[in-house]
Amino acid sequence: MGRVIKVLKLDTKPGRRRADQGRALVAGGAGFLGSHLCQRLLADGYEVIALDNFHTGKRYNLSAIARDASFTCIRHDIVEELPTDLAVDEIYNLACPASPPHYQADPIHTFKTSVLGSINLLELARRHNAKIFQASTSEVYGDPLVHPQPEGYFGNVNTHGPRSCYDEGKRSAETLFFDYSRTYGIDVRVARIFNTYGPRMRPDDGRVVSNFIVQALRGDDITVYGSGTQTRSFCFVDDLIEGFVRLMNAGVAPQHPVNLGNPVEFTVMKMAELVIDYTNSRSCIVHRPLPVDDPRQRKPDISFARQHLGWEPKVALSEGLAHTTAYFDAVLGGRRFIAPRTVQASTVREATA
Ligand SMILES: NC(=O)c1ccc[n+]([C@@H]2O[C@H](COP(=O)([O-])OP(=O)(O)OC[C@H]3O[C@@H](n4cnc5c(N)ncnc54)[C@H](O)[C@@H]3O)[C@@H](O)[C@H]2O)c1
Repeated sequence: MGRVIKVLKLDTKPGRRRADQGRALVAGGAGFLGSHLCQRLLADGYEVIALDNFHTGKRYNLSAIARDASFTCIRHDIVEELPTDLAVDEIYNLACPASPPHYQADPIHTFKTSVLGSINLLELARRHNAKIFQASTSEVYGDPLVHPQPEGYFGNVNTHGPRSCYDEGKRSAETLFFDYSRTYGIDVRVARIFNTYGPRMRPDDGRVVSNFIVQALRGDDITVYGSGTQTRSFCFVDDLIEGFVRLMNAGVAPQHPVNLGNPVEFTVMKMAELVIDYTNSRSCIVHRPLPVDDPRQRKPDISFARQHLGWEPKVALSEGLAHTTAYFDAVLGGRRFIAPRTVQASTVREATA
C-alpha cells in the first residue's frame, strides 16, 4: 500500500463507461492471454482494468482496446501491495511469465509472483467481495506418470530443478486460492491451462508453436529438443478464453482446479513437420538436448469442462495455425508467408481429427 502506481497514458475516448457487467481486473492484462481476455471482457460489457509490470507483456498487445472508454491500464507489480481503493467485482490473475526462458530469468521473482502476488490479489478479492480466477497450469502435473491427466492426479514435480520456480509457484498458488475460499468464503475459480498458442505470443517466447513458426518463416533451422517424441496438446487462444469465461460464470464454483486445453495430442516432431509444410518453408529440423525436467507427455482430460461447462476446443489446428502464422509474418515484417495450399491445410486437419 502507498506505493505509487503509474497509470499509462493510454488515450481514452470520451464517452459513457459501459460496465453493464461490472468491473473486472486482469492482472497480466498486457500479456498474450491477458490481452485477449481484456478484449473479450470489454466485448461482453465489462469495465476492464489491466494491471501489468510489463515484464513479458507489451503495450502493443493492447492497441486494439487502448482507446476504449471502458479500458484502463495500470503499471504495477503484483508482488507489491495493491491499492485498497481498487474496487472490482471480478479478478483474473494471469500475471506470471509463462515461458521457461522468461520465468527462469529471475526464478525468485517468478516464485514471489505466484505466491505473494496471489496473496495480494486474494486480499483484494476479500476486501471487495470479488470473484477471483487463477491461471494455473498443466505444469502442476510435472512429468506426469498418469496419461491423460485428470484434475485428480497430484502430479510428478521436481521441487528444486530449474522449472520448479514456476511449477511449485503455481502449485502453491492453487493451495492459497482454495485456502482463501475455505477460510474466508471467497468465490475462487482455478483453471489448469495446457499449451495455448495464437496471435500476440512473442516471437522470442521460447515455446514450441511460436519457436517453430518464427524459425520456419525466417528459413532458420527448426529446433526440436530431444528426439521430438515428447507430446503436447495445443489449444487456440480463442477457445481457451471461452473456457475462462465459462468457468468464471459457472453457477456453482467447482471446488477444485479445472483442466482447460485441447485433448488432441501431437508429438513435437509432428508439429515441426506440420509447421514446415504449412508455411512452405525450406527449414531443416535439427535436434538439441532435451532441457532438464522437460515433460514427456501432455494431454488434458477435459471430461469435467465438457460436462459442467459445456466447453471443448472448437478451432481446428489448420485455422489456428493460419491466424498465428499471419500474425508472426506481420510482426517479422511480412511477405515471408504465402497463403497455404489446400493440401497443406487438409494435412493439418487430418492430423487434428
Ligand atoms: N500460454 C499458455 O500456454 C499457458 C499455459 C499454462 C498457464 N499459463 C498461464 O497463463 C498466464 C498468462 O500466460 P501468457 O502465455 O499470456 O504469458 P505472458 O508472459 O504473455 O503474460 C504474462 C503477463 O503477466 C505480466 N506479469 C508477469 N509478472 C508480473 C508481476 N509480478 N506483476 C504484474 N504483471 C506481471 C507480464 O508482463 C505479462 O504481461 C500465466 O499466469 C501463465 O502461467 C499460460
